[in-house]
Amino acid sequence: MKRYAHITGWGKYAPEKILTNDDLSQMVDTSDEWIRTRTGIKTRHIVGEGETTATMSVRAAQAALDVANVTPDQIELIIVATSSPDYLTPSTACLVQNSLGAMRAGAFDLAAGCSGFVYGLGVASALIESGVYDTVLVIGAETVSNFVNWSDRETCVLFGDGAGAVVLQAKEVPGGVLSFVLGADGSGAELLYVPAGGTRQPTSAETVAQGLHFLRMNGRAVFRFAVNIMPRASRQVCEQAGLSLDDIELFIPHQANDRILQASARALNIPTERMFSNLEHYGNTSAASVPIALCEAIEAGLIKRGDHLVMVGFGAGLTWAAAAIQWSMPWPVPGRPWWRKLLRWLYYRWASLRSWTLRVLRGFDSTLRQSEEESQPPKQEKEDAMK
Ligand code: COA
Repeated sequence: MKRYAHITGWGKYAPEKILTNDDLSQMVDTSDEWIRTRTGIKTRHIVGEGETTATMSVRAAQAALDVANVTPDQIELIIVATSSPDYLTPSTACLVQNSLGAMRAGAFDLAAGCSGFVYGLGVASALIESGVYDTVLVIGAETVSNFVNWSDRETCVLFGDGAGAVVLQAKEVPGGVLSFVLGADGSGAELLYVPAGGTRQPTSAETVAQGLHFLRMNGRAVFRFAVNIMPRASRQVCEQAGLSLDDIELFIPHQANDRILQASARALNIPTERMFSNLEHYGNTSAASVPIALCEAIEAGLIKRGDHLVMVGFGAGLTWAAAAIQWSMPWPVPGRPWWRKLLRWLYYRWASLRSWTLRVLRGFDSTLRQSEEESQPPKQEKEDAMK
């Protein structure tokens, strides 16, 4: 029996703190007028104290699991698409796995810049269709604000923080992810990159002094790449799914710049209303932008059961990705009884207690081993005693 990967749950999280264009004009030489007319952005969300890519991922994932009516122990794989992980190692996905108490799940991060979420969707759907997994959680989450140079007006006005997540599940009903396209062109690696902090230029006092740990971008070149690749990838993914552009009720593109969205709509010969945009409230949230946009399009009642969607992204790498989807979920989602919410809440409390207990036990274990080793006579003494 053929299997199809359906999106059965979705959720988003954006930090409370909002940074307006006027706020930015107090920080760098810019203006609300310049930012709005060149990008379409009015505000963006910025992480507060204690918020990270992992904590935002968990909030978005919990919302998605709730919609899908899936418990964390049903998840078999967690993919976190991010270029701003909590640590270089371990992966943010492992931190999410721990916080959710998803004990049966494998977990890994996926770094494909702003295309990351759509890349993750493609990978997850292939693993589901091939029968490897039944339930996969795909998250796009970013704390770009930690990598932005807040004195560089060319980049700092563009980005924001947030997270979005979907639950993908195997079903035998046709629909869900119909096709996907993944692409890369590493010759453009240095058009959008963080020069230092990796193995090529490890972090040092010098790299920090030179600001090499901040995001650098050639805006014009990225713009040209984006307006070319978005329509191309959209056409290709429709072709693969056997759909025409007219069959697509809504395009959910990566939210980078309104002018890119409009140029892509013109190139595809579709009205701009079919190119969803929420850019003005979020700015570019990188890998989080497509899943956040998906959630907002659903909440706005723009997606009905049976509709065809194209999600399309581009970004650092250079990378691009598109997925054609037939939507199969009702909206609004049927309400969950209060006791189910309580059970979920208890489960997450239990997961954090379990995690804390394991850490404490590991601490005890290593202290015990250390004191045991200290109480043993040194190796040389032992050997002498045996002679
Ligand atoms: N406020 C005021 N002026 C600014 C500014 C800002 N925030 N940022 C740049 N400028 C200035 C430039 O210094 C330049 O001044 P000059 O003419 O005196 O040299 C002028 O505005 C025009 O700069 P330019 O780079 O040509 O602007 P643009 O119309 O190309 O818009 C971007 C710049 C970054 C908005 C646009 O190129 C873009 O969106 N690129 C794609 C970026 C992207 O999507 N990145 C993420 C990919 S995932």
